[in-house]
Amino acid sequence: LGLRHDLYIGTAVDMAALADPADPQYRATVSTEFSSVTAENVMKWETLEPTRGTYNFGPADELIAFAKRNNQKVRGHVLVWQNQLPAWLTTGVNNGTIGKDELRDILRNHITTVVKHFKGKIWQWDVVNEAVSDPWDSPPTLHYKGFWAQHLGPGYIADAFRWARAADPKALLFYNDYNIEAFGSGDPANDKTQFVYDLAKALLRDRVPIDGIGSQGHLGTQYGNYDTLQVAAALKKFAGLGLATAFTEVDVRSVMTPGVQAGDSGEINPRLQASAANYSVLLQACLADRHCLSYTVWGFTDKHSWVPGWFTNPPEGLATIMDENYQPKRAYNLMKADL
Ligand code: XIL
Repeated sequence: LGLRHDLYIGTAVDMAALADPADPQYRATVSTEFSSVTAENVMKWETLEPTRGTYNFGPADELIAFAKRNNQKVRGHVLVWQNQLPAWLTTGVNNGTIGKDELRDILRNHITTVVKHFKGKIWQWDVVNEAVSDPWDSPPTLHYKGFWAQHLGPGYIADAFRWARAADPKALLFYNDYNIEAFGSGDPANDKTQFVYDLAKALLRDRVPIDGIGSQGHLGTQYGNYDTLQVAAALKKFAGLGLATAFTEVDVRSVMTPGVQAGDSGEINPRLQASAANYSVLLQACLADRHCLSYTVWGFTDKHSWVPGWFTNPPEGLATIMDENYQPKRAYNLMKADL
C-alpha cells in the first residue's frame, strides 16, 4: 500500500506463514505492501519465555531481520497482557507457589530482559494490552480486569511503563486496547474510551513515561459504521494530552451466512462493502491527524486471519483486505484510494 509522507502502514505477521515455502505470496506481500510489521504471536510471553528463565528469541529475531531487510519499522507486541501467558507462570500463581512480591519481580525481569534484548530495534512497544474491562463483563461498571490487576493491583500499569522506559529509552511506549475508537457517553463507568483517556491522563500526571495510545480497531460489520469525524475526534483528544496514537490491529469481520461464499465480483457483497467502509473510516481519521503514527492491519489475507478460529459462535470471517487467494477486496482498493 502507498504511503502518506509520514504514515506507516503495517500488518501483523504470522511467522509460520512467513516461513512456509508453499506460500511464497504471503512473504512477498508482507515485504512489498507494508512499511511496518508486528509479530502476531512470537513476542508474547508464552512464546518468549516458555520455561522460566529460558528465553526463546529466535522467531522474533527472524521477524526483526526480515523487517530490516525490507526497510520496515517494528511494533513490539506485547509486554504485559493477561492472555498467552506461559503455564509455569499462571500455575505458579494459582497454586500459591508464586506470591505477590515474586510476581512483581518476575514482571520486572521479563520486561527488562525483553526490552533490552530488542533495544534499538523496536519503534513502538505495546507495553500494556487490554487492561480495561468491557460493559458486557461482570460487574458491568468498567474496571481494571485480568491476571495482573487481580494479583498486583492496577499499579502494575505504571510500573510496566517505567521498567520499559529504563530498558530502552528511545522506544515509544503505548497503551493498547480495543473498543476505544470513539467516545461514547463520556462516563468512565460505561465509556471505555473515556476510561482509557482518564487512565492516560492519570499516568501523565504521575509522570509515568507513556508516549501513545494504540487503538486496536477490531470491528465488525454487524455493529454498524463509525463516522470519520467521530474517530478523528477521539484521536484528537488523546493528542491533546500530548500523546501519539496509532491503529494497531485493524480488521473488520462479518458474520458468515452458511453456504454463502464471499465474492466481490458480480453482485456487490454488502458485507465486503461495509468492511471496506470501516477500514477507510479509521484510515481517513488517522490520515487527518499528524499524531497518528501508524495504521496496522491484523493480517491482510483471509488465508491467515485469527477471526474464523476465534469467533466461532456464530462463525465470523472475511475480516481482512485480501481474500484467501490474495485477491484485493474492496477494502484494499478503498485504502489505496485514501492513500
Ligand atoms: C491473537 C492472534 O491473532 C491469534 O493468532 C492468537 O491465537 C490469539 O491472539 N488482541 C491482541 C492480539 O492484542 O494479540 C490478539 O492476537 C488479537 C486480539
